[in-house]
Amino acid sequence: MLKAVGEETCATCGMVYKLYETPRGIMGACKTCVDNEFIKSLKLPSIEDLKQKRLEIFVTDFEKVTSDIERASVSSYKPRHETQLKAKQIAVKYVKDFDGKKSLVISGDPGLGKSHLAYAIVKAIRQKGYTALYIKSTHLLDKLKKSYSGDKYSEEQIFDMIERLDLLVIDDIGAEYVKSNDDGHESWASDVLYKIFDMRIEKANICTTNYTESELERKYGNNGPRIISRMTANAHAIRLEGQDYRRKEAF
Ligand SMILES: Nc1ncnc2c1ncn2[C@@H]1O[C@H](COP(=O)(O)OP(=O)(O)OP(=O)(O)O)[C@@H](O)[C@H]1O
Ligand SMILES: [Mg+2]
Ligand SMILES: [Zn+2]
Repeated sequence: MLKAVGEETCATCGMVYKLYETPRGIMGACKTCVDNEFIKSLKLPSIEDLKQKRLEIFVTDFEKVTSDIERASVSSYKPRHETQLKAKQIAVKYVKDFDGKKSLVISGDPGLGKSHLAYAIVKAIRQKGYTALYIKSTHLLDKLKKSYSGDKYSEEQIFDMIERLDLLVIDDIGAEYVKSNDDGHESWASDVLYKIFDMRIEKANICTTNYTESELERKYGNNGPRIISRMTANAHAIRLEGQDYRRKEAF
């Protein structure tokens, strides 16, 4: 936390703002005027546009996609099992009917195209003008941890952005490390996931996982039932089966 060392009156609007002692000297600025300058520099007309721009920058900052699914699309998903065919049909319909309210849970073993489909949906939804973020649960938790030591985004800003997304994809849920307490499996990670699902209860979320519903529920301890209940609310669940696309009999 920076230490406030005084106040100054803004020469432009007359508002008083605080001055802080920083490693680069005593600094401070009028937030209203800085925001206005930022809007002018982007040639954007309103605060709403500014918020939207910030959300898009947040998505760019947080999204990290592995190269094997970078070019994935719904149409490049080639079903090799009836569950995959069903999943593809659901994905097509999901994109077509997107209303920002319905969710998906895609589960199954490795290499069946869960990340492929989830990221392909994100790209298609974006094409329709919505704001969507694809993120692995481990990466999201890392970003939150970093926020505690003064990263670009504070914890509060991250939750605020997460809440405003039209679509949030949490890939590989259950892969994150949930440290257990003596009394059960509660931990910081499960608290964070609970908070996210709770704030997005009426919004569109897609989760993918290698685990079953009961495995996840057990993993999250006391938060388990509450997380699963919110994760599956208004959601279509797809369980993929078939052969791992990655494996080609290497040995
Ligand atoms: N049905 C499919 N058609 C075309 N490519 C596929 C299909 N399924 C998977 N792939 C490709 O195989 C690779 C692995 O798929 P993906 O990463 O989506 O698997 P996953 O189900 O998310 O696995 P994991 O559980 O290990 O995360 C990717 O390059 C993906 O594009
Ligand atoms: Mg995956
Ligand atoms: Zn000012």
